[in-house]
Amino acid sequence: MTEILGIDVGGTGIKANTVNIETGEFTGQKLKIKTPVPATPEAVAECIRKMIEHFQWEGKKVGIGFPAVIKDGISLTASNIDAAFINYPITKSFSAAIGCDVTIVNDADAAGIAEMTFGKGRDMQGLVIFITLGTGIGSALFFNGHLLANTELGHLKYKKSVFEKYASNSARELHKLSWRKWAKELDVYLNHLNLLLSPDLILIGGGISKNFDSYGQYLNVPVRVEMSSLLNDAGIIGAAMAAAKGKDI
Ligand code: BGC
Repeated sequence: MTEILGIDVGGTGIKANTVNIETGEFTGQKLKIKTPVPATPEAVAECIRKMIEHFQWEGKKVGIGFPAVIKDGISLTASNIDAAFINYPITKSFSAAIGCDVTIVNDADAAGIAEMTFGKGRDMQGLVIFITLGTGIGSALFFNGHLLANTELGHLKYKKSVFEKYASNSARELHKLSWRKWAKELDVYLNHLNLLLSPDLILIGGGISKNFDSYGQYLNVPVRVEMSSLLNDAGIIGAAMAAAKGKDI
């Protein structure tokens, strides 16, 4: 069995667990801590260092899903984390800070990889759009199982801002929207994605995927929409899987 520590850094919480890469199953107890405020590179690295200590993982392989565009070990954007992460050498710097062999990928891409391997997307051909509805909106696009990384479909322009400001779970909480009212915004978003990309399947992940029964009935998109099966664990599992491949995607 190959076991790798997966860490999912979100705008609100950081979650970690050890993962059996062959089965996608957890091998330990999930650990969750709050994302530090402000979420500066030093503060986030320190949280991750503590997690490494907790799992006694020093010197081993770690996969991290991070809420930003990640290219060649550099974080290029920062929507729900500190602006210091823009153009920041995240892989090099986190590796040095925590003393592990670190692979970092976009958090939604990580979750999507897990869902396409062990979840509802398994063996799906055609175009699958996986979206996570959390603090922001993340996206992962798969064609015949192949990932097109760093798509950032939550940042498509909408009203006075971008869709993630209206259809994310944090927007629902912030504006105290009923499931029906929030689902209306989500429905506009999903229809927009459908119009642009004509997917064969839209998978909804993130913490809110488990509440699909409360809002799924209000969605009216002429394409299959389903909640993900790995729910909020997909990000941890996919981060570990990316580390198993040994390079940033
Ligand atoms: C970020 C994405 C991330 C998503 C979910 C967005 O604000 O720009 O990179 O995947 O939030 O965390």
